[in-house]
Amino acid sequence: MFSALLLGAAILFSTLTHDLAEAKVVVTSDIPCRPFHEIYPSGRELCEKMWDGSFVYETNRSRAYTMWFFDQDNPNDDVTRNLGLSAPSLCHLRYLHKDTPGPEPDTFAECHPWKENSCCTEDTVSSVQKIKQSYGPEWHWDRCGPLTPACERFFVQEACFYECEPNAGLFRKYPDRHFNASDPSHNRWQMSGMPIWSDFCDAWHRACRNDQFCSHDDGNFFSCAATYTEEQAADGGTVVGIVFGCLVIVALIGVLGFLVFRERTGQPVFKPLEQQVS
Ligand SMILES: *[C@@H]1O[C@H](CO)[C@@H](O)[C@H](O)[C@H]1NC(C)=O
Ligand SMILES: *[C@@H]1O[C@H](CO)[C@@H](O)[C@H](O)[C@H]1NC(C)=O
Repeated sequence: MFSALLLGAAILFSTLTHDLAEAKVVVTSDIPCRPFHEIYPSGRELCEKMWDGSFVYETNRSRAYTMWFFDQDNPNDDVTRNLGLSAPSLCHLRYLHKDTPGPEPDTFAECHPWKENSCCTEDTVSSVQKIKQSYGPEWHWDRCGPLTPACERFFVQEACFYECEPNAGLFRKYPDRHFNASDPSHNRWQMSGMPIWSDFCDAWHRACRNDQFCSHDDGNFFSCAATYTEEQAADGGTVVGIVFGCLVIVALIGVLGFLVFRERTGQPVFKPLEQQVS
């Protein structure tokens, strides 16, 4: 009899967790997802809108930075000179960045263009998985499902560029001369208005054309990340539900065990009617 009850409890438990798992799937797909080509009309919108004004689309190659390169020397240093600026001797952005740019060891491979002079350490950019997870789940670029390798490559390049490129520090949204530590709207990590080579943005748009991305706020990745807290709260509810369900089932099994124990020891809790009468 006891095993039959256990089986019943197991069936109840699996039904309950299955329902909860389905509820979770509904929550996750609440992010509005659409293909890149429907969200961004062209490479310009992709570069400018996705990154909330961190970058601007620039067609003049001598005034435009590239997020990736194969040259021995970093071509972005020339761009800085063409803009009348000087290559920074400090890493002005503060996220996972080093204090000053410098060389990284031979094992530095994922963001290899910056090996000789980088604002990132090998440890922070050791793999695609590591890079993706560095900023928290709200910043995962595959929240609408896995991206094709061609498309994901551009997100890795952007992350390498942001973490490793010393010249990116020239475009901090709140540069040191304006930065006010007691103003909660200021930060040391955000960028603004860095000119990016138009061909790079266009290639990114072609590579991701049919991949799915968060279309919230016209594809603003920052706004989409900000919606994560709501989703997180819903997920928290699911976890509480599962834990509560498990506790109820454990309690049920305990009670059943107790009943069986009493019956086996000859002191059943529920006696047959005639026995109770006598
Ligand atoms: C591109 O930018 C460079 C450097 O600022 C400038 O000298 C050149 O005239 C620009 N070219 C065009 C076509 O605007
Ligand atoms: C810095 O920010 C605080 C808080 O917003 C403000 O009260 C203060 O006036 C600011 N200081 C400067 C120099 O702008």
